[in-house]
Amino acid sequence: VIFLLLAKDPENFEKLKECLKKNLKVTDVAKYSDNFITRRVEVRLRNTSIDKYSEYIRLLEKDSKEIGLLDEEFSINVTNFFRDHSMWEFFYNTVLPEVVKRKKLSGQKRINIWSAGCSTGEEPLSVCIMLKEFLGDSLGGFEISYKATDFDTDAVNRARRGVYEDLQFREMKQEYKEKYFSKNSDGTYEASSEIKNMISFVVADLFSMSMPHDIDILFCRNTVIYFNLESKSMLYEKFYDCISKGGFFIMGKTELLQGPAREKFKIYDSKERVYQKE
Ligand SMILES: C[S@@+](CC[C@H](N)C(=O)[O-])C[C@H]1O[C@@H](n2cnc3c(N)ncnc32)[C@H](O)[C@@H]1O
Repeated sequence: VIFLLLAKDPENFEKLKECLKKNLKVTDVAKYSDNFITRRVEVRLRNTSIDKYSEYIRLLEKDSKEIGLLDEEFSINVTNFFRDHSMWEFFYNTVLPEVVKRKKLSGQKRINIWSAGCSTGEEPLSVCIMLKEFLGDSLGGFEISYKATDFDTDAVNRARRGVYEDLQFREMKQEYKEKYFSKNSDGTYEASSEIKNMISFVVADLFSMSMPHDIDILFCRNTVIYFNLESKSMLYEKFYDCISKGGFFIMGKTELLQGPAREKFKIYDSKERVYQKE
């Protein structure tokens, strides 16, 4: 609906952008495409039951709370390397060894990984660094299939470029930054192709995409957090179905597994929100 609104009302969309430039405290709208701005504003329009940009501009001009809410809406892609680093330690020391052990025992070489809601790519790149560090030379003996999906085209395109600001590295060991990234002349850092090329980034909406299968490790962290209970339950069941026996599901640190999937998954580590399909 909103794309029609933008198409029908380009003049007020420009005015809205001016208004956002002036009023938003955190977000620099100039950094975002019209598509992305439209998507984020759409959520607030739905919440305020407003269907005209002109009316929404009037609300923003008089209501600082709405400005805060829209700012939050923009920060929804927020992520960083090794976000919630205790989970990463657990992943490296416990989950990865178990996955690798199972593969060796069964004689399988392929490891299927999926990051659902990968945003700008920091999460899948962190996983690839862990794989490289853990497997070292024996990485070549495995066939890693890594799918990273997000419905936000801008985010996925940035993930594909793999260029990051310094701030994104705040939870990453300096050693990894030096080993897997190179510094650009503008002060940004670029992921080396050895980790970037391990991942296939795909634009896909969790609600309409066809689910992958035989997943050994599924990350879906801080992504379904704003969905309603019904949608979450439905997705968690789908996640259960697409994970292979013995495979892992890793959620965000503040998320709770809800719905029927809660009875199906085994809690592998409750603090780190790691679940296993038995
Ligand atoms: C806060 S980021 C999480 C990034 C990373 N997983 C982490 O935990 O750091 C949430 C991402 O979910 C994506 N997202 C939200 N709804 C989605 C949907 N229905 N389908 C696919 N991606 C979605 C957003 O575009 C955003 O990039």
